[in-house]
Amino acid sequence: MIQAVRGTKDILPSEISTWHSLEELLRRIAGQFGFQEIRTPIFEHTELFARGIGETTDIVGKEMYTFFDQSQTSLTLRPEATASIARAVLEHTLLEKNPLLRLWYMGPMFRQERPQKGRFRQFHQFDAELIGSSYPEADVEIIALAYTLLRSLGLSSFELHLNSLGSISSRMRYRAALQQYFRPHIAAMSDDSKQRIETNPLRILDSKHPDDTPFLRDAPQLIDYLDDESRNYFEHVQKLLTALEIPYIVDYHLVRGLDYYCHTAFEFITSRLGAQNALGGGGRYDGLFEQLGGKHTPAIGFAFGIERLLLLLSEENKAVSKAQRTDVYIITLDDESRAIGMRLAQHLRSTSNFIVATDTLRRSLKAQMRDADRTQSRFVAIIGENERLNNTIILKEMASGAQQLLPLDNIPTLLRALDTTAVEQS
Ligand code: HAM
Repeated sequence: MIQAVRGTKDILPSEISTWHSLEELLRRIAGQFGFQEIRTPIFEHTELFARGIGETTDIVGKEMYTFFDQSQTSLTLRPEATASIARAVLEHTLLEKNPLLRLWYMGPMFRQERPQKGRFRQFHQFDAELIGSSYPEADVEIIALAYTLLRSLGLSSFELHLNSLGSISSRMRYRAALQQYFRPHIAAMSDDSKQRIETNPLRILDSKHPDDTPFLRDAPQLIDYLDDESRNYFEHVQKLLTALEIPYIVDYHLVRGLDYYCHTAFEFITSRLGAQNALGGGGRYDGLFEQLGGKHTPAIGFAFGIERLLLLLSEENKAVSKAQRTDVYIITLDDESRAIGMRLAQHLRSTSNFIVATDTLRRSLKAQMRDADRTQSRFVAIIGENERLNNTIILKEMASGAQQLLPLDNIPTLLRALDTTAVEQS
């Protein structure tokens, strides 16, 4: 038996209504904040991610699904959406038409990580980007969107962690200080850290390796290396968050796994999902557009992992959707009734929004009734020989058991009867 690739998941019919409801809510709230959807391709030139996310990051270094196509072009299944969106904005000169873009995206992403609870190789993100503003209002607008999304889902067991990575120059000074601090200990530290000390020493702070933890606590903190401008910026962001009553925790150890960040970095953390505790995260990435060959363009964004939102919703026992119920299940009892039943289903579907099911397995009355129960159908419409000859149907409301004989051809009368209240009154 061929099975799904490790780290990928089928979303089954029994789960889909939860996905739909979640997606609908994300769309609706993004719309309320004035964000518009953008859709970019699932694969891009490998160079886009290498340059955008950074050659020394885990994502680019070891997690990308990269392949050569028939013409030997190196392509990569996108591991995230921000670089693709920036590419699309540049390619279509969207900022020339509008100096401030509010964009969102939702879809599958691909990273070859070790699968575990909440961590997949194909996963889905909801991503939002506010492109064009260099002011703290933009940071807080984007964080407010993320926060509102979580709250609208009814979630409460999360914390917003916030840090400032400062300007590029303060980050460079901090990087040098970290290298200096870790160098005397590096022989005793993990292999990853031995590599990262040269390539990306900030990432050492993120390490969970037992060989590294003793050295992390006393490591220099980025906040002490921020220049005045970066510090003021960070304070302004915090003041606005407080004004909007969005609770946050300043977390000086928060470094994000992608190189394009500067100034504000944030993550929504939960203690309910085990090791994969980040529901979502983001930050400011003022250097990315230049990195990709465009003009200097300040921007900030975030992404949530949809699977992690769903996991937390189930941990918190919050339902976002009801299962799909059939409105009317058409039961036919003999060969000649089947075509009549199917025609009736078509008429009802084209004249209403009702969910109408037919049998198609030529089952017995009892088996069709059982199937109507399984689909939680509100009504069954029964057509047998008698009904067929008299041009009628029996309409039965499942909850009350109330039955009525109705004309088969009179669709308006049928539609009225399918409205529960109309039946209750009759
Ligand atoms: P990220 O932190 O790499 O940021 O990913 C955002 C979220 O995607 C994570 O917090 C997590 O919920 C989910 N996620 C990441 N990897 C996996 C995985 N293997 N399995 C399941 N879920 C996962 C970004 O991707 C940035 N592009 C966010 C951003 C937008 N920054 C600015 N704009």
